[in-house]
Amino acid sequence: MTGSYGEFPGVRPRRLRTTPAMRRLVAETRLHPADLILPMFVREGIAEPQPVTSMPGVVQHTRDTLRKAAVEAAEAGVGGLMLFGVPEVKDAIGSQGTEPDGILQLAIRDVVAEVGDAVVVMSDLCLDEFTDHGHCGVLDDQGRVDNDATLERYAEMAQVQADAGVHVVGPSGMMDGQVGVIRDALDEIGRQDVAILAYTAKYASAFFGPFREAVGSSLKGDRKTYQQDPANLRESMRELALDLQEGADMVMVKPALPYLDVLSKVADAVDVPVVAYQVSGEYAMVEAAAANGWIDRDRTIQETLTSIRRAGAGMILTYWATEVARQL
Ligand code: PBG
Repeated sequence: MTGSYGEFPGVRPRRLRTTPAMRRLVAETRLHPADLILPMFVREGIAEPQPVTSMPGVVQHTRDTLRKAAVEAAEAGVGGLMLFGVPEVKDAIGSQGTEPDGILQLAIRDVVAEVGDAVVVMSDLCLDEFTDHGHCGVLDDQGRVDNDATLERYAEMAQVQADAGVHVVGPSGMMDGQVGVIRDALDEIGRQDVAILAYTAKYASAFFGPFREAVGSSLKGDRKTYQQDPANLRESMRELALDLQEGADMVMVKPALPYLDVLSKVADAVDVPVVAYQVSGEYAMVEAAAANGWIDRDRTIQETLTSIRRAGAGMILTYWATEVARQL
């Protein structure tokens, strides 16, 4: 039998695992700082950055510290920044999301001015950070999230974010037709240059828990009428086809680690860049276990990111972006 000599194996895969240099040479997947995108929170009306308790190491920034952290990320070689705004005043329609001098728009201006040549500046395009009820859209008279009324708000948000200078908008609300409406709204004001990173497969996930603290969300209930059921895989392919048809430039799967099958399938199916979002709960789990001494923090972080890349993500949003970029 080929490669077999008596009772000993003739084929020895272990040869390629013998030394760090050998393992590095044959590695099929690599992490690079430019593939990492750092999600950042900026909060209106605070004098000092506020720690997010459920995400040790993550803060709600002031405009000032946001700028500094953006510079640090850029210097570490991080490829992109994704900005989330937390306004002082929230209301039913998320008015601050479309105010030209709302906190997110100010933050976009600040960050673009500071590091806009070195990194790609992206903004979350969603209403949940701005609404007092915490939903990603506006509500109808029965308290249900009104898809088409929300699309009108998203169109306006896209335009003010583009006016503020953002390079990429990230619609994350899972409203039907959001990518198409946003593309039209951008084109209408002559902003064909602004790209859309579509949250294509976004699941109604318990892993978003800590994010709710990070944006001071008052959501009661859940998002199951608009985000996808974790039970479904094929549904993501349908969302993917729609997003591409509507003009998505890049597509995202979120959360990442519990949905590597979805990521892999999406990556196999498309020729646009594929992004994964390692979300707040994924971050919190690792930090909590590491704080207890139960896992090796740095190795676990590297392993999760490598696995997400291996499954097919070209780029990864991760709260560890700056730290990991520095280590690479
Ligand atoms: C919606 C949005 C959410 C996240 C990113 N964009 C929250 C949600 O859908 O409930 C979650 C990110 C994370 O958990 O890290 N604007």
